[in-house]
Amino acid sequence: MPLVTSKEMFEKAYNGGYAIGAFNVNNMEIVQGITEACAEEKAPVILQVSKGARAYANHNYLVKLVEAAIMCNPDLPICLHLDHGPDFETCKSCIDGGFTSVMIDASSKPFEENIEITKKVVEYAHDHGVVVEAELGSLAGVEDDVKVAAEDSSYTRPEEVEEFVQKTGCDSLAIAIGTSHGAYKFKPEQCTRNEKGILVPPPLRFDILEEVSKRLPGFPIVLHGSSSVPQEYVKMVNDNGGKMPDAVGVPEEQLRKAASLAVCKINIDSDLRLAMTGTIRQFFNEHPDKFDPREYLKPARANIKEIVRHKLTDVLGCAGKA
Ligand code: G3H
Ligand code: 13P
Ligand code: ZN
Repeated sequence: MPLVTSKEMFEKAYNGGYAIGAFNVNNMEIVQGITEACAEEKAPVILQVSKGARAYANHNYLVKLVEAAIMCNPDLPICLHLDHGPDFETCKSCIDGGFTSVMIDASSKPFEENIEITKKVVEYAHDHGVVVEAELGSLAGVEDDVKVAAEDSSYTRPEEVEEFVQKTGCDSLAIAIGTSHGAYKFKPEQCTRNEKGILVPPPLRFDILEEVSKRLPGFPIVLHGSSSVPQEYVKMVNDNGGKMPDAVGVPEEQLRKAASLAVCKINIDSDLRLAMTGTIRQFFNEHPDKFDPREYLKPARANIKEIVRHKLTDVLGCAGKA
């Protein structure tokens, strides 16, 4: 089937109490790992491309890789989405270039300016059959070249969401309830330690999610920064020459709970990066004589596939929904 928008995916996810996985893609092995897992688990999927991914791999390569995934998995619903579109021009370029969904992230701008930019993108996107994700509130962490310090992040203010959605016409809304980008989501001093000495982060602000969804009944909510930073992969990195002390993510039970509520799209990138990097580091440690990229990319791709399968079946609840 051709690329789809996320409209129908979100309607079903909202009513079914699950979320669609949105995974970032940067190269062939990542596209293959994700889509093979989704096809086998019959899970609709959003493949998302950041500004950084377009700069790294080139828009055309990424679109053609996704087209290849469609040819190899003809029954799998795939939405191709721009992640964190920084301005109208980038969104327009993706809309003109075959994407079915874009995010305009003007969340760092004042409220009125965010409305103005988002509305302009929505008008252009809807004229071209493309859907738009917008954002209110800002997450801590690093995304593309934007670094938001924990003290500069801000939770979404529920009292703003109705006016924002009504004035912009956006199709989904990313909110800030305590998730954050990257592998170091919480400072050790924000966390407690469990009996194994592992950092336990503060809980997400479900009260904000609840208030937002009360004000926007039936409207799809998006969570960014939702990697769980699996400790077995942090250990694999650290045991094989890496240095990622105190990397910590969002506990998966909390994501499962969010997926059962109004959250219809959950963004996961860092977990796939960790799986890939840990696997490649281990491979080199165990096989210092090897130098064929296919030999180390193959197990990396296999582990991306397995981590995506785990997310679909055990966290997002979208397996079997395609
Ligand atoms: O939120 C950002 C995503 O993880 C993409 O990261 O900008 O390094 O491609 P990137
Ligand atoms: P993570 O860094 O938690 O994987 O978040 C990814 C994301 O939000 C992409 O937009
Ligand atoms: Zn994000």
